[in-house]
Amino acid sequence: MKPLMNASLTRFARAAVVAAGVIVANLAAANSGGNLLPFTADSGNVASVQRGARNFMAYCSGCHGMKYLRYNRIGQDLNIPDDVLKKNLMFTSDKLGDQIKVAMPAASEQWFGRVPPDLSLETRARGADWVYSYLLSFYLDETRPLGVNNTVLAGASMPHVLWELQGWQKKAEHAAEGGHGGGHGGGSAFEQVTAGSLKPSEYEAFVTDIVNFMDYAAEPGKQARISLGLKVMLYLFGLLVLTYLLKKEFWRDVH
Ligand code: HEC
Repeated sequence: MKPLMNASLTRFARAAVVAAGVIVANLAAANSGGNLLPFTADSGNVASVQRGARNFMAYCSGCHGMKYLRYNRIGQDLNIPDDVLKKNLMFTSDKLGDQIKVAMPAASEQWFGRVPPDLSLETRARGADWVYSYLLSFYLDETRPLGVNNTVLAGASMPHVLWELQGWQKKAEHAAEGGHGGGHGGGSAFEQVTAGSLKPSEYEAFVTDIVNFMDYAAEPGKQARISLGLKVMLYLFGLLVLTYLLKKEFWRDVH
């Protein structure tokens, strides 16, 4: 009986290891699936998050809402006074306590075949590097209804809304042949077809701001949490010193 059980246990263990291996491999493949670019969000960069908020409202909120974020929360966190908030970020009908709603909710599904998803938690769901790469990876593709595709989200139904800034790019020849290889290191996965109003580095900075804002939106309390944590640590350290001195005082005459 015993050896049998051991044998089946070993087999089970082996199967588990193989399964784990397959899962890890799949995760890795899924993540690198569309040439993700290295990117780390910095929601502590208030100036960048402010610019990102403005640009998100101008370029994205027509289709995407952020139902977990209210305007006055943005104002508080990013030190934006109410009047500036109203003038620059909000649509006239919105109130300070409103969540960020989609400007054109009903029509969008008919236009794009898909409801543009709420983006409050997008960087947490996909990762900031995914979103950053996505916004840099729209390319011309005649086979798609809108004439545009995306290497990070193949068959994406979102138009390249930032084309005026980035210009148009197409897949580089070598990348197109080798499936989704190529993107990293030396040669880019894309070739510029027409220039946009921004230089490539400026466009990258523009996208960085938007993703930093989205990263902030996914966890608005993050910076407050970090600074509170530091204060608590400092407080505890101060208490430690006091307690130690007190202990010395108590025991001074005992020995
Ligand atoms: C004209 C409408 C429209 C505008 C404007 C727009 N999007 Fe989209 N977006 C869509 C649609 C539709 C999808 C769904 C794409 C799909 O799943 O095929 C989408 C999908 C996305 C996704 C992927 C969601 C996911 O996880 O699958 C991200 C990220 C995104 N949009 C970000 C943005 C950002 C940032 C902006 C502003 C720069 C923006 N979008 C502006 C329509 C729009």
